[in-house]
Amino acid sequence: MKLNTLAVHAGDRKKLGNYVPVTTPIYSATSFFYDSLEDLDRVFADEVPGENYSRYGNPTARAFEAQVAALEGGEAAFSTSSGMAALHLALLAALTDRRRSVVAANALYGQTLTLLTKLLEPSGVAVRFADPCDPAAFEAAVAEAKPACVLVETVSNPLLRVAPIDKLSEIAHRHGALLLVDATFSTPVLLRPLEHGADMVIHSATKFLAGHGDVLGGVVVTNEEFRPVLQSLARTLGPNLGPFESYLAMRGVKTLPLRMERHCQNAARVASWLGDQAGVSAVHYPGDPRHPDAETVARLLPQGMRGAVVSFELRGAGRGEVFRFLDALKLVVRATSLGDVHSMILYPAMSSHRDLAPKHRQRLGITDGLVRVSVGIEAAEDIIADLAQAMAAMGPLEAPVAIGSQAQ
Ligand SMILES: Cc1ncc(COP(=O)(O)O)c(C=O)c1O
Repeated sequence: MKLNTLAVHAGDRKKLGNYVPVTTPIYSATSFFYDSLEDLDRVFADEVPGENYSRYGNPTARAFEAQVAALEGGEAAFSTSSGMAALHLALLAALTDRRRSVVAANALYGQTLTLLTKLLEPSGVAVRFADPCDPAAFEAAVAEAKPACVLVETVSNPLLRVAPIDKLSEIAHRHGALLLVDATFSTPVLLRPLEHGADMVIHSATKFLAGHGDVLGGVVVTNEEFRPVLQSLARTLGPNLGPFESYLAMRGVKTLPLRMERHCQNAARVASWLGDQAGVSAVHYPGDPRHPDAETVARLLPQGMRGAVVSFELRGAGRGEVFRFLDALKLVVRATSLGDVHSMILYPAMSSHRDLAPKHRQRLGITDGLVRVSVGIEAAEDIIADLAQAMAAMGPLEAPVAIGSQAQ
């Protein structure tokens, strides 16, 4: 079946007695009992499907997991209370009984970087960073480090570089490593990393999957081979997504393909409009034919679906101008996160990349005038009109002020 159909039907309509609920209910029960202890014993032994305790599995969470597994073309999925919990779970699973080493993309979500350097590294895991958009350099790092796994994001934040997942899976496997892909920015509508050889796909379900700004969640999708290790770790660590959140996430995913179409159409229009503005000195958007990864984009992403996030630089702007621009917005929401139905805007130098030294940020290309928009599903004209009026309201440039020194 096609993705649009799977999104609406997969995971739902488990038979209960002689009736079937049309959508999966919220099972708030923490424990489940059976007519006989023999029956419960068989469930504990994983001989028959069934529930015993919600940390081991919950029917609402399982329905959401089945839905996302169907969209990703995976065989097993584990939902978690946040995207970070999903990343932690996947990394621990990939490191279990394997080499104590990870090669990761050099541009990663900030807390993922912290997870690698502040939690895994001190516990004896060697962590090395390389540029996934330079496959030769990436392979050299993997060959030298001989890692248990490679961790990359499909689309980097905030500069929106697109990783060649197909080439990276060949590289990882050539050197005996697993490929873990954080596909939060692309979603299965744009790219299904398992089809390109990835071993585990991770999502912050908080973003496009749930899509309405009301659920914090995550999910790891994988193949049968890694089900036992993920299941065992999940049962021990207890990073579970609660039943209410599972319900909301599942409800969100039903409209994911529809939303992504509109998100991507709107993002293309916003990017094109931004490119024509004198006050904008650079636009970062995977749909731009001059994008540095245009070849990868054309090979891996569907025609006309280049993502919903656009970053751009306000010409010559520093903190003062960016703050005035953001404060003048009336429709686009000034808030951290992305992937919601409403457009959202964020200032990386103040938020996601705040902890980096200004020089490090500059080296990464994250200038003091860079902002990132997650383009929502409103009418594109209204989003553009809001950006236009806020740019006009921003006023003339001031003398630059270093971020970091004033960002408390
Ligand atoms: C690419 C990416 N991965 C993971 C996360 C973490 O997700 P969560 O906030 O659900 O823990 C984020 C959060 O912004 C993200 O952007």
